[in-house]
Amino acid sequence: MNYKLFIPGPVEVSPATYRAMTTPVIGHRSVEFVYLFKLIQTHLQKLFYTQDPVFISTSSAWGVMEGSIRNLTLKKVLNCMCGAFSDKWHDVSERCGKKTGSVKSDWGQVIDPQEVRHALSSGQYDTITLVHNETSTGTMNPLKEIMEVVKEFPEVISIVDTVSSFSALPILKDNLGIDVMITSSQKALALPPGLSLFSVSERAFDRATKLRNRGYYFDFLEFLRNHEKGMTPSTPNIPLVYALHSKLEEIFKEGIENRYLRHKNLNDKVHNWIKKK
Ligand SMILES: Cc1ncc(COP(=O)(O)O)c(C=O)c1O
Repeated sequence: MNYKLFIPGPVEVSPATYRAMTTPVIGHRSVEFVYLFKLIQTHLQKLFYTQDPVFISTSSAWGVMEGSIRNLTLKKVLNCMCGAFSDKWHDVSERCGKKTGSVKSDWGQVIDPQEVRHALSSGQYDTITLVHNETSTGTMNPLKEIMEVVKEFPEVISIVDTVSSFSALPILKDNLGIDVMITSSQKALALPPGLSLFSVSERAFDRATKLRNRGYYFDFLEFLRNHEKGMTPSTPNIPLVYALHSKLEEIFKEGIENRYLRHKNLNDKVHNWIKKK
């Protein structure tokens, strides 16, 4: 049975990706793995528009979304809530035992940058979470405008979920000043679920050194130590790493600008079709 999936994710996986996953498994401490990891890294830094390391985690995005809170929130986290995923991030922050606050918009509405400024001006917060594209409502937050506000508060570390927007349009991590940018494999990358990718700024690593109880599996400093050797902290899902490599080759062969344009054209086509109904 070949399903044609029309959901935000998981999306249909191509035969080429499945073929890549059947490459025989290698040891994750081997020179062959280091070579593969470094090839992937170069491509990922381009797609994240960053000079910072990009990590590969064998987990879905929630692993790293929860991990970010555990690594970075020392004082209090401001959760921007406007849909199922951003609302849940607030709940997850509380479950991590952190002090939390929120700015809220009705589902289907974007987060207001002025409200973010007002909340951060209280001086209570040292972290903020934002979902770029709220998949549950199809609402894309004004990332640039919100990041301009966050930049006014140097103590605040930004954590941005780009799960359903990454690689469909350019998100310039370094330029926007995003400290931690997170995505996962099963949406626009069209890989099977089970990997998440994230990039962490120098400022965020500094913050992590100040927190105890970061745990192990999602400890940013463990990721960094291993990254310096071209490796992951624990055994990654190697077939998915092969799939990621194959997909990245495909993306750069198509050309990233062509890819963005293709997504934009598809998006316009769907919107126009709906408007005509
Ligand atoms: C915006 C957004 N954030 C987070 C998640 C959770 O990602 P995962 O299921 O990879 O943990 C999803 C999944 O659909 C999502 O769309």
